[in-house]
Amino acid sequence: MGTDNKLLIVEDLWVQRPGAEVLRGVNLTIREQEIHTLVGLNGSGKTSLALTLMGSEGYKPERGCIVFDGQNITNLSITERARLGITLAWQEPARFEGLPVADYLALGMQNPSRERIEQALEAVALSPQAYMTRAVDSALSGGERKRIELAAVYAMRPRLAILDEPDSGIDMLGLEEIAALLRRMSAEGITVLLITHRDEMIGVADTASLMCGGTVVNTGIPDEVREYFARHCRPHGERLGSQPWGEEANGIYRRVVTERVCE
Ligand SMILES: Nc1ncnc2c1ncn2[C@@H]1O[C@H](COP(=O)(O)OP(=O)(O)OP(=O)(O)O)[C@@H](O)[C@H]1O
Ligand SMILES: [Mg+2]
Repeated sequence: MGTDNKLLIVEDLWVQRPGAEVLRGVNLTIREQEIHTLVGLNGSGKTSLALTLMGSEGYKPERGCIVFDGQNITNLSITERARLGITLAWQEPARFEGLPVADYLALGMQNPSRERIEQALEAVALSPQAYMTRAVDSALSGGERKRIELAAVYAMRPRLAILDEPDSGIDMLGLEEIAALLRRMSAEGITVLLITHRDEMIGVADTASLMCGGTVVNTGIPDEVREYFARHCRPHGERLGSQPWGEEANGIYRRVVTERVCE
């Protein structure tokens, strides 16, 4: 399979949820070590795609495939995918209530070390002295929890980190800090799929993809995709995330087609 430096290839992925077709023919390619941002209006299918890539319960594709590092993972469980190095942050609030923050971070690490834990907390602007012994519980603010989730992802060094709006609800961790953390991840060999609403975050990425109505309608240079987004996407009353483009739109956007990898 000629996947050279392509870490993830998604081909013609369709996913049905009770009551809605949430993914409708998604094609997406993510290269090794890139920061790839995924943008799109509310309801366009970004979180659904993240959950499908992770292999979450109820997101089994009816059609299409997901190839990770040359291996077809479409039918692998969430645990098997995690073992291959795929991680999704903010999928659910921390499930490890009561555990000290340091232990929580250590859970995902192959060789837990105090140094790495401190480094990860510092990377999200949390003082290690103040937070390592805090418990993961409701006494943490929403923003603190999000930072700890982000620190956990960084600490574990996954191969692919899927971050679903890590920037929302994090006020004090400015754009520059998040950007620096993403670059640090990339420099350490972590490939990042960043789902974001913040316009400025798009510029941090190497590549951007735009979702609309359950499919990826454009992939390319972040600035161009951002401009395309601003020009073509608008909230559409009838169904959030869909666009009133209809048939005539087929020629307007560049449908993103990857090479055929499904068997
Ligand atoms: N079980 C379901 N029944 C009906 N519709 C569903 C169901 N699950 C998801 N959807 C719809 O699928 C669409 C995609 O949702 P998704 O959460 O993937 O969007 P999103 O791009 O992450 O949006 P946001 O930017 O608001 O986070 C939404 O319109 C949502 O209402
Ligand atoms: Mg979402």
